[in-house]
Amino acid sequence: MTAIEYDAKVDAIRAEMPYARNNVFLNAGSFGPIPQRTMDAIHDYMKLEFEEGRSFQREAQTKTTAREAAAAAFETPVRTVALTRHTTDGMNIGIMGLNWEQGDELIITDTEHPGGQYPAYVVARRFGVQLRRVNLGDGTGDVVGAIEAAISNRTRMIVTSHLTWNTGTVLPIKEIQELANRHNLLLICDAAQSAGSVPAKLGELEIDVYATPGQKWLCGPEGTGATFVSERGIERLYQSVVGSSSMQYGASEHVGGYVLPQSGANRFEVAGVNQPAVAGYTSSVSWISQELGMDWVNERIATLGKYAWDKLSNIDGVHVITPKDRMAGLVSFTVEGVEPPALVERLAQDRVIIRNIGFPTCSRLSASFYNTEEDIDQAAAAIDNARRELAGQ
Ligand SMILES: Cc1ncc(COP(=O)(O)O)c(C=O)c1O
Repeated sequence: MTAIEYDAKVDAIRAEMPYARNNVFLNAGSFGPIPQRTMDAIHDYMKLEFEEGRSFQREAQTKTTAREAAAAAFETPVRTVALTRHTTDGMNIGIMGLNWEQGDELIITDTEHPGGQYPAYVVARRFGVQLRRVNLGDGTGDVVGAIEAAISNRTRMIVTSHLTWNTGTVLPIKEIQELANRHNLLLICDAAQSAGSVPAKLGELEIDVYATPGQKWLCGPEGTGATFVSERGIERLYQSVVGSSSMQYGASEHVGGYVLPQSGANRFEVAGVNQPAVAGYTSSVSWISQELGMDWVNERIATLGKYAWDKLSNIDGVHVITPKDRMAGLVSFTVEGVEPPALVERLAQDRVIIRNIGFPTCSRLSASFYNTEEDIDQAAAAIDNARRELAGQ
């Protein structure tokens, strides 16, 4: 691709995203901006339902298309896809999916989001499972070694993120899955921040559970997501929350209690979905993975992330937490003398949108494929101004 073609591609992307065009929007880690085509897809679907009514047949087709789009985006067989409402659904599918016994152990890193932590706390309370918390620091040390050191003969599961939401570190997920395989453990991966920002060819990686959202880096509507479950995961995990979508309908016996789960990961789906939102999910995911190209998107995010890392590191009083050699699009940082919530609020006045994080206490910027170097330059200038203003430096 020539430089002119590259720039034209970025312009075309930004033409679809008024929110990213009209703001310095650096918060894909919370919610990505919705592209025009997805707004249209949701609207058109809603209009169809409004004018022609809703139907189970259309719903089934919409779900099939969405599973196919998710499978294509992550290069994995369709039967490994379960449509969900968010990342946290997938974390629950994985963590609640074992017949836990008193004294069993679950390894969880200390960089997990509540979406992964809370289901682990519930199994600890409910079944007497021991949680082994692994301290990863900023994730630059020997992550696999640290996890391996926590394994005992009672360990049954590892819970970790692919890209940590707070330090912005890409963890070695392939090696962690290999470790899990060697010790016959299940790996439940929180992919809220990596899905769409870090390469993840799941057909090759065969992560047991890879829980992804639609609304963040994939720029889909909220209330959508997909959880990918490997063949091993499908075989070993029990269904915890079930309904009409989870079972093979014809094979079920309604009165006798005889049911046969769906053969693929869609056994972890439950019942009706928000059909317009699911159609919107398909639109965003297909756009990013097929039209723009997942590899192109991932590379652009990595390049802009590093660009942001450099810019922020050069500001006096700014300390970047994210390790540059293990990053994607998230950049976490602190500003001397400025509380992160105050910084976020001050930047919003300049239409620079980022967020703050509680643990560790810091601010976080998300550089994504629709951003430009100028966005990052503007954000860096605004951060420097805010620092002078708020910390009086
Ligand atoms: C690492 C991580 N996990 C889980 C979540 C929760 O995401 P969802 O709303 O898709 O469940 C987030 C959202 O910020 C996150 O960053």
